[in-house]
Amino acid sequence: MEDKVIVDGLTFVPYLRREEIQKQVSRVAAELRHDLEGKNPLFLCVLNGAFIFAADLIREAGLNDASISFVRYSSYAGLQTTGKVKQLIGLSESLEGRDVVIVEDIVDTGLTAVQMIQDLKKLNPNSVRFVTLLHKPESSKTGFQPDYVAFTIPPKFIIGYGLDLDGKVRNLKDIYVIEE
Ligand code: PRP
Repeated sequence: MEDKVIVDGLTFVPYLRREEIQKQVSRVAAELRHDLEGKNPLFLCVLNGAFIFAADLIREAGLNDASISFVRYSSYAGLQTTGKVKQLIGLSESLEGRDVVIVEDIVDTGLTAVQMIQDLKKLNPNSVRFVTLLHKPESSKTGFQPDYVAFTIPPKFIIGYGLDLDGKVRNLKDIYVIEE
């Protein structure tokens, strides 16, 4: 692990080491395995940030009948005064009767999660579960509680293991927090 990472002039220091990440990913994977054994779940990895977590999680979960697909939320300023309008894109398969597991890297305000679950439930899945690597409950604007959480963290800016700053540093094997 590097002592510090400087990106776009900002300094980040170590926060979660890869060993600690692996341990919590294994724990969450075991919970999913327990809850989904015998089913053929569909993991839905929400791009971009969750791709590394999802890759580790599905390999640890060891559910050979599970499939994985990838979705994105387009984010653009809407015309309404309510602010941002987001739309689910990239979903090609039917969710009818499926046990869906949404895989996210981070839940912050919870707005994305709430909207995504609402959108997906319209497609008649059998069940929808939500797993996140990181949860910042203090930032919540929705009270949304993910079903599976690897780490509950304070509302600080973090990077690495899929999380970016301006699209950079998703490659880092450990997670870093902005230096205060
Ligand atoms: C992050 C994360 C969620 C969303 C959570 O995505 O992956 O989709 O923000 O925030 P919320 O709880 O406040 O709605 P981001 O827009 O950073 O895109 P990325 O995954 O491509 O980096």
